[in-house]
Amino acid sequence: MSLDAVYQQCINPDCGHTADVAEPLFACPDCGDLLDVLYDWDALDVPSSLSFFEQRWGGRNSPVDFSGVWRFRELIPFARDADHVTLGEGQTILQPNDRVGGFVGLADGHLFLQYEGMNPSGSFKDNGMTGAFTHAKMAGAKKVACASTGNTSASLALYAANCGFVEGVVFVGSGKIAFGKLAQALDYGVKTLQILGDFDACMMRVQEVCRDHGLYLMNSLNPFRLEGQKAIMFRVLEGLRWEVPDWIICPGGNLGNSSAFGKAFIELKQLGLIERVPNLAIINASGAPTLYRLYTEQGLRWNDGHVDNAAIDAYYAKMDAAGERARTLASAIEINRPVNLKKALRSLDAMNGVVRCASDQQILDARAQVARGGLGCEPASAASVAGAKLLIEEGVISPTDRVVCILTGHELKDPNIIVDYHTAGDEALAAKYGEYGLTTAAFANPPQKVPDDLDAIVEALELLTN
Ligand code: F0G
Repeated sequence: MSLDAVYQQCINPDCGHTADVAEPLFACPDCGDLLDVLYDWDALDVPSSLSFFEQRWGGRNSPVDFSGVWRFRELIPFARDADHVTLGEGQTILQPNDRVGGFVGLADGHLFLQYEGMNPSGSFKDNGMTGAFTHAKMAGAKKVACASTGNTSASLALYAANCGFVEGVVFVGSGKIAFGKLAQALDYGVKTLQILGDFDACMMRVQEVCRDHGLYLMNSLNPFRLEGQKAIMFRVLEGLRWEVPDWIICPGGNLGNSSAFGKAFIELKQLGLIERVPNLAIINASGAPTLYRLYTEQGLRWNDGHVDNAAIDAYYAKMDAAGERARTLASAIEINRPVNLKKALRSLDAMNGVVRCASDQQILDARAQVARGGLGCEPASAASVAGAKLLIEEGVISPTDRVVCILTGHELKDPNIIVDYHTAGDEALAAKYGEYGLTTAAFANPPQKVPDDLDAIVEALELLTN
């Protein structure tokens, strides 16, 4: 495959700087804005129908056919086959789930859960990491780095341990990283810097280090990561036999996913591979509401790429002056300054989107319901389901719309909060988590303490009475 038809371009229409595909840039060298990976599709061999990709299902012997990302490589055509770095990511499922559908208020057959916890490192990040590692290989990178609330670092660590050609460094904030994620970074052997600050501080520092010391940045500022994450949408369509749903709902943190999803649908439409684009809902945690405030409350828009930078700067200045910091039990999305804000605005524009906030109480209750419905996800993931419920209650989503909620990470990433939810009892729960607004566990399933005695056990099992 020729790479002549691939290039990077600044998203700012007043700048439009372009760069070679192999350059590791992560920000426009002229104006500092975000970069896209763009394709001259006419010069590329793109299938005329999405059903083309079904032929890859039988190709399990080929790592790129097996990958849930690279089996769509004609739609992510920035690398030659020899450069693809893959761990077999993306073996995920789109599960129709009436039980959770009933919880959110959808008619049977209308809710689908896209379960990204099945990825090798247990979160959706692997979709992006396979893209970024592939590009790192093309760019000849020797050291790669990221800032993370936990899942990016786990994913980076796993790919670095497997691919063998780079060393990894991860920056994590102090205190908030969930244990499952920290365990992964340490275990896979990356250098782990626990910065005395929050995620936003880590994000700023890692950019400085990458810029000044030539490390390759693995955060979603890296446009090649977002190219990989487009595949989540390709697999959603595949799961729906190539039918476009009415709504895609995802949690909003650093806004990489929402940015990638919008780009995927913009390109599919441009290529004539779909006839319409679904609506997008991005759900912030109430304790980390930057996008909600800017988009829903203040009306900030993509505006054909002419985003009101002064409004964003003013928002952040006010936030800093008030000493406001993100705070949510959905620690994966505890982010003040989402780096992909502008690309997310583009997605919201292209997908006629809405942004809402869900409280930690709503998120944790929705998470428990997802588990009762048979899939385990971490708190941040359940923001999508909590958001679906809110939007149906508001009448924005109709009970007969086809809705896809993205479950971004596995339940075992963050078991502490889950065990507390089930076992603490409302009083202790409120004492520990009341500051986050979590005061009750409506769907708790606490263990029953029983003496080591057969009669007592039989009685507890209610065998005598039944
Ligand atoms: N869900 C989970 C489980 C996440 O780990 C993240 C982000 C998000 C949702 C938000 O996705 O950033 O694309 O809007 N985690 C990042 C990390 C920030 O460092 O692992 P987004």
